[in-house]
Amino acid sequence: MIEGSKVLLVDDNVEIINILTDFLTLNGCKIYKASTGKEALEVLSKADLEIVILDVKLPDVNGISLIDSIKIKNPTIGIIMITGYHDPNLIVEAMKKGASDFLIKPFEFDKLILVLMRVVRERGFLMEKQKYIDTLEDKKKIELLNRELQRRIQELTTMYHISNKFNSLNILDDVYDRMTQIINEVMDGRHCGYYIVDSENKELMLYKELGDGNNSFDRRLTISDELIKEVRTTRKHHITDNKIFLPLVIKGENIGFVVVDSKGNGRYRNSFSDSDIFFLKLVTEKASTQIENRMLYESLFEGVLHTLTSLITAINKRDLYTEDHCKRVTRSSLALGEMLKLDSYEKDVLRVVGPVHDVGKIGIPDSILLKPGKLTPEEYEIIKAHSVYGEEIINRFEILSYEAKIIRHHHERFDGEGYPDRVARNEIPRGAKIIAVCDAYDAMVTDRPYKKAYGKEEAINEIIRCKGTQFDPEIADCFVELVMHG
Ligand SMILES: [Fe+2]
Repeated sequence: MIEGSKVLLVDDNVEIINILTDFLTLNGCKIYKASTGKEALEVLSKADLEIVILDVKLPDVNGISLIDSIKIKNPTIGIIMITGYHDPNLIVEAMKKGASDFLIKPFEFDKLILVLMRVVRERGFLMEKQKYIDTLEDKKKIELLNRELQRRIQELTTMYHISNKFNSLNILDDVYDRMTQIINEVMDGRHCGYYIVDSENKELMLYKELGDGNNSFDRRLTISDELIKEVRTTRKHHITDNKIFLPLVIKGENIGFVVVDSKGNGRYRNSFSDSDIFFLKLVTEKASTQIENRMLYESLFEGVLHTLTSLITAINKRDLYTEDHCKRVTRSSLALGEMLKLDSYEKDVLRVVGPVHDVGKIGIPDSILLKPGKLTPEEYEIIKAHSVYGEEIINRFEILSYEAKIIRHHHERFDGEGYPDRVARNEIPRGAKIIAVCDAYDAMVTDRPYKKAYGKEEAINEIIRCKGTQFDPEIADCFVELVMHG
């Protein structure tokens, strides 16, 4: 049973070392030797040993006091003390420190073997126990890590959800409305809302609330001095009466408050966790950024619309036909957009594109643009360039790049035989296809110096005839429906 055990002998008595070495080697042990405490610790640092046979009296150190250092290096090692004197106090002290047994010199080899066997067995149990403790601790650590990981995943998923919801906001969507919806989702259905600050009356006015239908917020709330002070100085949240108030700050000004009640889904909660507050702050920050972006966009857009209006006036001064034509095309393309159930962004695009779709005609000489007679093929080629000129002009306004694209393609045909790029079907933006039908119909039903206007029925038949070649069939059908019954 002791065969193969690695044993360190620590004694300054060479004779004892030699005798023990011979005897234990015969019994299959691997022996290491040290004559001082210092040497013993050095050996222990290098080899993974199982048993130390340690003399109490060493030249440099007391063997008992060495036990602690040995156990630090190797907690499961078995220590057998040897001494020439029977001193019960010494034995108790050594056992307390973790020695496994005590042998009084001279001892019989049989007794040594028995002690060694017991220590080896004990050490086996100890190792087993240590392994069990390690496994348990590892399990606990893994469980903790798993819980932390789950929490982080949940947190990241919620953050992604919040960002995604805000990023998908359309320019015409109500930010406050969406913000309240997101808070309701993130706060697990708790009753929430948004109050606008009425600084003049020192009041909060309820703009929106969302919850389980059992609760309702006051329409108006008086702003407490405490809240004003807290928001001004810290911009932090404020909890009162089981409700949390978070300021919405735009350009340094507190314009409103997100409010969440601890009640929700029939459950009553008394507090808000750190992660609740973190997500609420994230939502209000995202909403603030959205609102600031919109303000910037609107001021840019206003400037752009102003410039566009001047452009339209300039075009109209040259050619009265274009002015009325553009007005009619805008009106009918918006009506068509409505029938085709375009979203609000696409309808806005048509509203901008309609009046300026022929802005490129500004680059066509009067002699061609205002020519009373029929155009020669060369002149027609020059006229055709107006869609590309138009795109170039509108592209100068960075925020109108999509509108510019529609202007470029408003003379493309569904079968790819149009201009300037001869693109077909789905390669043509939907807005351009809508403008194309409305533009063609209006040109047909209007008198020009060189051609008589078609009658309504005749023009409708022409649209039907050209559906699938010049016009997108679905859009052409819808347009015919609009003209006949709309
Ligand atoms: Fe045109």
